[in-house]
Amino acid sequence: MRIEPVNDAVGATIHDVALSRLDDAQVAEITEAWARYGVLFFHDQDLTPDQHVALAVQLGEIDVNRFFARVEGHDVIAAVVKEPTDELNIGGGWHTDHSYDPAPAKGSILVARDVPPTGGDTQFLSTETAWRTLPQDLKERVHGLVAIHSSDHIFGPKSDYAKRMGDRFGNSEAVNTSEHPLVIAHPVTGNPILYVNPAFTIGIVGMDNAESKPLLDELYTHIASDEHMHQFKWAVGSVAMWDNRSTWHHALNDYPGHRRAMHRITLAGEPLAAANVPQPA
Ligand code: SIN
Repeated sequence: MRIEPVNDAVGATIHDVALSRLDDAQVAEITEAWARYGVLFFHDQDLTPDQHVALAVQLGEIDVNRFFARVEGHDVIAAVVKEPTDELNIGGGWHTDHSYDPAPAKGSILVARDVPPTGGDTQFLSTETAWRTLPQDLKERVHGLVAIHSSDHIFGPKSDYAKRMGDRFGNSEAVNTSEHPLVIAHPVTGNPILYVNPAFTIGIVGMDNAESKPLLDELYTHIASDEHMHQFKWAVGSVAMWDNRSTWHHALNDYPGHRRAMHRITLAGEPLAAANVPQPA
C-alpha cells in the first residue's frame, strides 16, 4: 500500500489496497497511519455493507450511534442520508462524533453510497495541528481546563433534528453530557490535542457562559483556519476514516434538490486523559 499525505496539516490518501480483504500487516499499517494523519481516504472500494462491518471489526469495537437511522438489515451501520426534499443535512457544522459520551468514539468509517452531481464534499481539519500552531498565550490560558460536552441541544427533544427529521432524534434517554480535559493526550501517540468543538461543547468547568464563550470562540477561530484543513470530494465507493480525537469534520450542505447517502460505522474509544504539556511559568 502507498500512503500519500494530502497536505502538511491533516489526512492521507491510501492507494493500492482493498479494504474488503486486509491482512494483519495491512491492518497494522492502516492503524498507524490513522493515528498519524488523523483521516485516511480510499477510492474505488465498492464495499458491501457486510464488508464495511467486517472492516470495522478488524479496526476496533463498534459503538452504535444512538440517534441516527440504521441501514436496513445492518443495525450497526448508521444511515447518513439527505433526500432531495430535505433542507437539513447531518453533520452540517464543524464537530467530532460522540464527544458528549464519557468514552468518546475513537473513529468513524464513512462509505459513500450515493453522491450529488456536484457539492456534498466533507471538510476535515486537525485539532492536533491546531494545538501545535496555537499561540503560546492561548496555550497558557487553556492549561488545566476541563470542557463540558452535550448532545441534548443537537439531538435531544428540543433540537432542530428532532423537529425537522424525527426518526430517533429527540430521544431524551439517549442524550449524554460529559466532561473531558480541554487538551487531551492522543490515546495512541500521546500527542496533545485541543478537544473542544462548536457542535457539542457547551461550556468550561468553573466558568460562566460570559467567560467561556469568548475563549471557546477564540479557539474555534484558530482551529478552523484553512491551514489546518482538507476538503474531500466523494465518489461512490470512496471511504474516509477519521480519528474523532484529533480531527473535526463538516459535511457541506450545498446540493439542494439532490440525494446524498452515506453509511457510517463508529468505533468505540476510551475515556480521555489530559495531555502532559508544560505548566505555564
Ligand atoms: C458525519 O458528520 O458523520 C457525516 C459526514 C458526512 O456525511 O460527510
